[in-house]
Parts: sequence; C-alpha cells; structure tokens
Amino acid sequence: MFVFKAAVVGAGTMGGEIAQVIASAGIPVVLKDVKQEFVDLGLNKAEEVTRAQLDGLVHKQKISQEQADQQATEILGRITGTTEYVGFGDVDFVIEAVPERMAIKQAVFGELDALTPGHAILASNTSSLSISEMADATSRPDKVVGFHFFYPASMMRLVEIVEGADTSPDTMQTATTFAQTIRKLPIACGEEPGFVVNRILNSAISEVWRFQEERGLSIKAIDDAVSAARVAPMGPFFLTDLLGLDTVLHVAEHLQESYGEGSFYVHQGMKALVEAGELGAKTGKGFYENGEPRSQGETEFDHEELTQHFVLKALVEACLLLEDGMATIRDIDLGMMAGAGLIPPPFARADQTGLDEVLAALEHASAEWGEQFAPPLILRRLVAQGRLGAKSGQGFFAYKQPDDGFEQGEAVQLETRDGYAIAWLDRPPANSLSPQVITELGRVWEHVEADDAVRALIIASANPMLFCTGADIKAFTRMDEATGAALLQETHALLRRMESSSTVTIAAVNAVAFGGGCELAMACDVRIAAQSASFGQPEISLGIIPGFGGTQRLPRLVGTARALELNLTGDPIGAYEAFEIGLVNRVVPDHELHDVARAWARRLGGQAPLAVAAIKRTTAGDADLDEGIEAEKAAFGEIFQTTDAREGIGAFLAKRAPQWTGK
Ligand SMILES: NC(=O)c1ccc[n+]([C@@H]2O[C@H](COP(=O)([O-])OP(=O)(O)OC[C@H]3O[C@@H](n4cnc5c(N)ncnc54)[C@H](O)[C@@H]3O)[C@@H](O)[C@H]2O)c1
Repeated sequence: MFVFKAAVVGAGTMGGEIAQVIASAGIPVVLKDVKQEFVDLGLNKAEEVTRAQLDGLVHKQKISQEQADQQATEILGRITGTTEYVGFGDVDFVIEAVPERMAIKQAVFGELDALTPGHAILASNTSSLSISEMADATSRPDKVVGFHFFYPASMMRLVEIVEGADTSPDTMQTATTFAQTIRKLPIACGEEPGFVVNRILNSAISEVWRFQEERGLSIKAIDDAVSAARVAPMGPFFLTDLLGLDTVLHVAEHLQESYGEGSFYVHQGMKALVEAGELGAKTGKGFYENGEPRSQGETEFDHEELTQHFVLKALVEACLLLEDGMATIRDIDLGMMAGAGLIPPPFARADQTGLDEVLAALEHASAEWGEQFAPPLILRRLVAQGRLGAKSGQGFFAYKQPDDGFEQGEAVQLETRDGYAIAWLDRPPANSLSPQVITELGRVWEHVEADDAVRALIIASANPMLFCTGADIKAFTRMDEATGAALLQETHALLRRMESSSTVTIAAVNAVAFGGGCELAMACDVRIAAQSASFGQPEISLGIIPGFGGTQRLPRLVGTARALELNLTGDPIGAYEAFEIGLVNRVVPDHELHDVARAWARRLGGQAPLAVAAIKRTTAGDADLDEGIEAEKAAFGEIFQTTDAREGIGAFLAKRAPQWTGK
C-alpha cells in the first residue's frame, strides 16, 4: 500500500505538527478540527515550525533566504485545513490526534470508516488507549493501527507503531514504511499500556519517586543527581513540571492500574499538587517555582543507590516487555534512546556492565528494596548460559571478539571460532559498503578460504541497530567511470567466489539490510534474520538500479513477480515477510540470532566439502547467474551515467524530492 495523500484529525498540540512533518516530506495532507479557530491554530503551528526549521538552514548557510521562502510556500501549500471531512475521499493514511477519550476516538473512527476509501489505513496517535477498541468502531479492524508520535512531533524522531488485535501485517508494514517516508524512526510494539517508551521510562521514574518520598529527600538534590549520573537527560521532577503534573499523574495512575502498585508507584506529593491545581510550567508552579524547588528535604543520600533504582528498574521493565513478546530487543533499545534519551539504553547498558553483575545487583535489590526488582527470567537464562554481555561476546546483543593473530582491517574484522569464522562489519555509522569494506571483506574471505579448519563464514554486523544500509553513495559519487567499474568488478568477483566455494556463508541479519546490505546477504548460502531485521532494494528512489546482484539473486530467491515489486517500489519488508517469500531461511528472536547462525555454521561446515561446493554450484545455476550479473553490470553502468541518476543521488543527499526527466 502506498501513501500519496494523508489526513490528520485534531489540530491541537500534536495534530498541527504531525501535519507539518507529513507536508515537509512532500506528501499532501488535510488537517481537520471541529472549529475553524482550532484548524487555524494547527495551521499556525505548522507554519511556525516550518519557518523555524528553514531559518535554521538559512542560518547555517545551507540554503538562501529566497530558497527558504520558496520551500515554506511549497510545504505549507501541501496542508489544507477543514472543519468538515472535505478532501478525505481520496486519502490513503489518516492519523487521528483528538483528545484522549475513547468515546471521542470511536466516534471519529466511525466517521473515518464511512468517509475514507476502503483501502485507507486509519491510525491513532493515542498514548494509552486500546487500538483494538477504536478498530471496533470500523468495518476494517485490520487497517487500524497505533502511530504514536512523541512531543514535540516535529523534532522527536521516534514513532511507536502499535499492533492492535486485528491489525494485519500489511498494515504494520505500510505504517512502518510511511513513518520512514516522513523521516521518522519507527519501532513496532504490541498493544499494552504505555507501549514501550512510556512504560519503561515511567516505571524507572516511579522508583525515583518512591526513593524520594519514602526517604523524605530533596527533589532538587534528586534531579541534580539523576542529571549528573547521566542515566536520563533531565531530573524527573523538573521533567514532570515541563510535561504537566496532571498529564504525568494520569499516565502514572493508568500504568499503576494496569500493572499493579509494586511496579508503578504514584508520587503522593504530585497527586496533592494536581488536586491544588498546581500543574507545573503551564500554571507557573509545580514541584518548582521560578526555578526554585517548592519543598525541602534531606540532601545527603547515596547517589549510586538512587541511580541503581532507575537503571535496574528500567532493565526489569524492558525484560518484562520482551518476555511478553511486545517488542524486540533492538526496538526497545532504539525506542529508549530516541524517545526517552536513555544513552546507553537498558539492554546495551546491561551488556556493558556484565549480565552476571546485573543479576547479582537485582538479587540484592529485590531483597533490599522490594519484589519489583526481582530478576527477570530472560536475564537468569542468559547468565546461566554464560552469556554475560560484551565481555563474553553475547548478552542481549552479540559483540565482536576479533582474532589477535590476524592483521585486522578497520571496517571488517575476523573472529575465528571452532570450525567457523565471523566477518564483523563495523563501519560507523551505517556499515555502508565502501571500497574499503569490500577490500577488507575480500581479505577476510581469502584468509578463511585458506584455512582448512574453517569451513563456514558468518557475516554479521557489530552495530546492534543495523546490518548494512547499502552501498556508500557518497563514495560512489566521487568515483570516475573506471574506478566505479573496478569496484563493481571486485565486489561481484568476491560474491561469486563465495558462492562457488566449499566454504559455507551465512548472513546473520540483525536489523536493516538495504541495497548493498541486502545484496550481500543474498549472496550468502543461508540467511538467518532476527525479528528486527528488514530488507529492501531502495536504489530506484535514487534513480539507479541495484548494482551488486539485486536484479539477479532476488528473483532467484523470491520469484520474478515479488522481485520486480521490491526492486520497482524500493519499499522495505520485515523479517516475517522476508521469510514467507523465501528471502530468508529462518526468523529468530534478536538475542538468539548468533546462536542460530552458529548452529548452521557448525552443521553446514561439517558437510563433505566437495559435495557442498558442487551443490552450491549446481543449485545456483552458475552460467546463467554469471550471464545475468553481466547484464546487470552493463545496465547499472548505463543508468549510473544518466541525468536522472545524478538528480536522484543529489536529491537524496540534499534530503529533497527528486524531479525525474527521463534523461
Ligand atoms: N500532547 C502530547 O504530548 C502527546 C504526545 C503523544 C501523543 N499524544 C496523543 O495525541 C492525541 C492528541 O493530543 P493533543 O495533546 O494534541 O490534544 P489537544 O487537546 O491539544 O488537541 C486535540 C484536538 O482535537 C480536536 N478535536 C476534538 N474532537 C474532534 C473531532 N471530532 N474531530 C476533529 N478534531 C477534534 C480538538 O478541538 C483539539 O484541537 C491524544 O490521543 C494524546 O494522547 C499527545
């Protein structure tokens, strides 16, 4: 499903900015509210945000004032206000952002169901209400999904894509792709109170509240200690004042009702302030007034103990979410970084500390501070298995442990295990395939092939958030025709050597594998995907074509029809869809990716070498593939020289929409 036109219902705090985000990504959007004055407030907000963003670019001398004015006119021209549902008859994606009350939401969903085309996806920006209940008000529950932005929507990159009871995989995928199109960072989660970010953040903060209130401590001292320890971007009391005490109290009470008092403590002082109408910054006073705390308390306490309350509770709650199957490890950590500013996020932090130490700390905490710190099952299991985090090579995430004896490259490193090896892609920020990556991967491959004791190679990413996002476009643009052709040649030769070898190759795809990353995975004999993995060939959006075998290996794996679709739309697909169409061999939980890849390496690496090589050669249909790759190389070379290719790559680098001329 494609989104050519969107709509936002509710032009309040969130709606105006959401419409602005959509319009600035080049998509026309209708903004509806109940009265013209509210529509105007939303349109004004969109204008204010647009001007501020463009002024920033002018200030940095990235664009001229004239260009800024032109762009502002274009962006704002894409937003149309309405108090009726004018213009909803041809929308593809609607985001509801009306007040947080189920009766209002259901009424809006009922109206949307009647007034939008049958294919349109109806999304809600709700922070806490049930997506499934909203879906009940429609005749298309499979097309209803949560699409939860964070405040302020124009700046915060995270969007939680929430799966209701009946939301279809196709709807989840369209919502994810749409979020990426409007330059947001989507994470997927199940429908449960607080979703990912609010649940974990509030549960950790609620332990700080409890700590402060039970011991009669100074809120200012607590805020200072939390900021100084850098476990969160700002102190919880200061943050609560900014967000509004009534809003925070509402969320806290909702989470307490849902998960119990043990897990979610509600600050009694905050409750009293709300009852007195003192709601923080918006009423002039809350916990603070004019920057000064309004209550005093003990300033001496153990800062480390306070930090541990926050950090350990965040991890416990993250593990519970994971155990409930509500989100993947990668999405939880990404969400806590992008949505709550926790750096490092809970799982990565635990891996760095050492899971055995974290387990011991939780055992101590649950005995001393309460059952809410009881060590989660998944943590006990990982420790029992010797998976202790970064120091052991595997915890919630996998970590490279490069060989000492090998002259390691900067971007690709070799780790040899018993009978198999791992090539770790480690080129920040995105593991993009540059000439250096290809050369270093080639060196690792030569070494592995020459080693009789190593019969399988796993290709993995050292970056927990992505596998490889594609070829290094900037490096490509700096090459002349001859060096570009040489790089293509070198890459194809390496991939073909891997394919014809008796050494088995396994791609352990942990997350995003786009363009060259997807092509590298496709050239491996086996692909194991973590649940967080996604695949795609987005070259078409740059006006070029896949250059590392994407037009050849993709149809061989998934059939011509799906390959054409993926290569022509450039849209990504998730791990389960990749499995269904035959692009990957298995989908496994994130933290089991390396176990499974290693099990495959041991199994296939133990097969008869000559038979392995013969099976690989004949199954792939060597001659036919070589011919196809030659055809792709020729086409890639031609397309890369066109005006459209220059325009597409230029537009991509400048973050604007390309204008195709067919030349
Ligand atoms: N404010 C936040 O920080 C934040 C963050 C994330 C998500 N949310 C969620 O976003 C949604 C909107 O929150 P908000 O803070 O923007 O609320 P808001 O009260 O600022 O705005 C809601 C708008 O919806 C309008 N409205 C009411 N009924 C309507 C109808 N039938 N049709 C069209 N418009 C209607 C109101 O006139 C108002 O302008 C809520 O579900 C909230 O939970 C809010």
